[in-house]
Amino acid sequence: MIQIGPYQLNGRAVLAPMAGITDFPFRQMCRQTGAAMVTAEMSASNPALRNTRKSLLRLTNPDDAEPRAVQIVGTEAAQMAEAARYQVSHGAQIVDINMGCPAKKVCKKLAGSALLKDEKLVSEILNAVVGSVDVPVTLKIRTGWDTDSKNAVQIARIAQDCGIQSLAVHGRTRACRYHGSVEYDTIGAVVQAVDIPVFANGDITSAIKAKTVLDYTGADGVMIGRGAQGNPWIFREINDLLNNPNASSELFTAKSLNLGITSGKERLIMEHLRHIHRYYGDFEESSFKQTPSNTSTSGLNDDLDLSGNTGNKKQNAGIHTELAVRIARKHICWYFEQTLQQILNQQQQNQNTEYTKNTEKENIADSRVLDQEVKRLIGNIETAKKRFNQLSSCNAQLEHVAHFFGELQTTGDIAA
Ligand SMILES: Cc1cc2nc3c(=O)[nH]c(=O)nc-3n(C[C@H](O)[C@H](O)[C@H](O)COP(=O)(O)O)c2cc1C
Repeated sequence: MIQIGPYQLNGRAVLAPMAGITDFPFRQMCRQTGAAMVTAEMSASNPALRNTRKSLLRLTNPDDAEPRAVQIVGTEAAQMAEAARYQVSHGAQIVDINMGCPAKKVCKKLAGSALLKDEKLVSEILNAVVGSVDVPVTLKIRTGWDTDSKNAVQIARIAQDCGIQSLAVHGRTRACRYHGSVEYDTIGAVVQAVDIPVFANGDITSAIKAKTVLDYTGADGVMIGRGAQGNPWIFREINDLLNNPNASSELFTAKSLNLGITSGKERLIMEHLRHIHRYYGDFEESSFKQTPSNTSTSGLNDDLDLSGNTGNKKQNAGIHTELAVRIARKHICWYFEQTLQQILNQQQQNQNTEYTKNTEKENIADSRVLDQEVKRLIGNIETAKKRFNQLSSCNAQLEHVAHFFGELQTTGDIAA
């Protein structure tokens, strides 16, 4: 069991903080599908940015599942300490420090992963933040600034000495950004060097990969980022695999594929979509009060249409509903893509099973059919995405998702 201060996590797979993605609705979705912990998107420590819409939306939500973790990014120790206090006073139960972000606008101010270049400053920031709050402070890093200056092990030791309570390591340098292979060896070396829990991060996109990385690195947990986009079910699959050590890889893979395409999945996607609209809509209604609440439980009857703006409130609501529409487009198109991938995997697997039983002639014919199937499905998904991206109301988006899954059932691509 992973322990972070007073919080015992009920699993070994957590959601990575991702700006523009891990908002409250997506965090809730991932907790529902088995993530043991989720972290809000990074929040600037500069107090001048506190009252922007972006910062207010990034505060933790009282309805976030515990422990409520928030990430801060910045460059000055005193400012970071003050930002941590501010976040705790607004409900954060864990403060995570970002020393992993490779973005230019963050790194040019010696924040995010750029801090890794200055170990003295790292130590100053960590001491200041840990000393400023009563809640656990955690750290997220890369393996170093570039391949000539990999210092993840030194940073991990500094972190432990400063009182950091868990560490997530994205196994790439800042210079590598998101390219090249993940250095699971370096993550393993970090695990060896410290006693605090370590989360291995980078390119983990399946339950099998999660187990392989855990076994290889000896890490306490895995942190999943892009692998959860359109596929939050990855957390449940990882939990299932880790809780069933006797499950063979092949059997588990088959189970994973089936798990992805069920009516439960469609229901959760619809719930996620409704939640996006409620969250951003309520945020506007609360006139920038810092904690958007979760009041509306209806879905199809919510009036969130963008087309007619009558009155001031509605006009303002429109602005934020537009934001909800855009955010929904991103997530729902990922769901469409992942569903396609799962259907294709399933078909490929069926074909592999038949392969050894068939004659060569039958196999050639089967692979032609599969090629046509792939083309048909890709065409369908592209059309579904294009159409979805033209819709501008919650109701229309919900109807389209229902239609999408209905069509897949009609064509026999997924079970009714
Ligand atoms: C769109 C996007 C936004 C991200 N935002 C953050 C962030 O706010 N804070 C952070 O520490 N890392 C951020 N990351 C990095 C991820 O947390 C993670 O370390 C990285 O994506 C590698 O993990 P993955 O291969 O599982 O995606 C972001 C990554 C992506 C793709």
